[in-house]
Amino acid sequence: METNCSCKTDVPRVMTIHRILEEGKGQCSFFFKSFLNGSNKPPQPGQFVMVWLPGVDEKPMAISYSTDNEFAFTAQSVGPFTQALTRLKRGDRLGIRGPYGKGFTIKNPACVVAGGVGIASVATLIDQLQDPLIIYGTRSKAQLIYLQRYKKQEMLITTDDGSHGKKGFTTDVLVEVLSSNKTIKMIYTCGPEIMMKKVVALCMQYMIPCEASLERYMSCGFGVCGKCMVNDKITCIDGPVFSGKVLSTLSEFGATARLKSGRKVSLAEHHKV
Ligand SMILES: Cc1cc2nc3c(=O)[nH]c(=O)nc-3n(C[C@H](O)[C@H](O)[C@H](O)COP(=O)(O)OP(=O)(O)OC[C@H]3O[C@@H](n4cnc5c(N)ncnc54)[C@H](O)[C@@H]3O)c2cc1C
Ligand code: FES
Repeated sequence: METNCSCKTDVPRVMTIHRILEEGKGQCSFFFKSFLNGSNKPPQPGQFVMVWLPGVDEKPMAISYSTDNEFAFTAQSVGPFTQALTRLKRGDRLGIRGPYGKGFTIKNPACVVAGGVGIASVATLIDQLQDPLIIYGTRSKAQLIYLQRYKKQEMLITTDDGSHGKKGFTTDVLVEVLSSNKTIKMIYTCGPEIMMKKVVALCMQYMIPCEASLERYMSCGFGVCGKCMVNDKITCIDGPVFSGKVLSTLSEFGATARLKSGRKVSLAEHHKV
């Protein structure tokens, strides 16, 4: 039975999918007609929800759209959970917990560097910034999403294979932007950790403040299981958004990852699993 309760709860609230927007091949946004928290305040850009698909799994998803009466998350089909999500239809139900975590602070003029589905984590941030410069990279053209949504923004696109935009990495473009005389007071990033590590290093080099959203494995979402730890930081409650200053002190950032069991492995080993 669907509950009408709008209070924040750490047990999943059963919610009906109001509409599904196909953003790209294997990438869908799932919309829900409701506020997420009881205070009538929209979630902060960078916050996430825990999405429970009974019998499959429960995983964190960034809040990628947020308006007065609707919110959504955007999933990219990569593994069992996200593949099961993309088979859902309008009217199907999911368990949602949250919103959780600390979001981004807003500072203009800004540049947003997004890699892959990491753009979902910075999407509501882009909605709140004043004409940010967006640097957005994916493996190839097929993975690019939100191009219509941000058609009025200045967007520099990169693809690893050169099938759209500039061939190469987002960080190659960021170097060009930073070495031009463009006034940028803040840089935001979300994407593969190895990319974010390079972004943070560049921000330190050019002495520009930055914030990055970490996509670590999460089970509880509220600081109990310890699976999302990066050094002494608990990503789900201390983050997922951290300042570049903090990240540059964490030896595990961009170097290690934790598996579903909580075991710590090198990033190279993580990509083999
Ligand atoms: C705070 C936070 C926010 C997140 N927001 C989103 C979001 O908005 N949308 C979203 O799709 N996912 C998001 N994730 C990741 C998400 O929770 C899942 O881990 C991911 O969707 C894969 O789950 P899966 O079970 O389908 O695949 P898994 O079995 O976990 O992964 C299958 C394979 O795909 C790789 N992989 C995992 N995640 C990705 C990815 N995002 N892109 C490319 N390859 C990947 C894995 O390394 C593995 O090889 C977020 C994670 C965190 C911590
Ligand atoms: S996900 Fe459990 S402590 Fe962060």
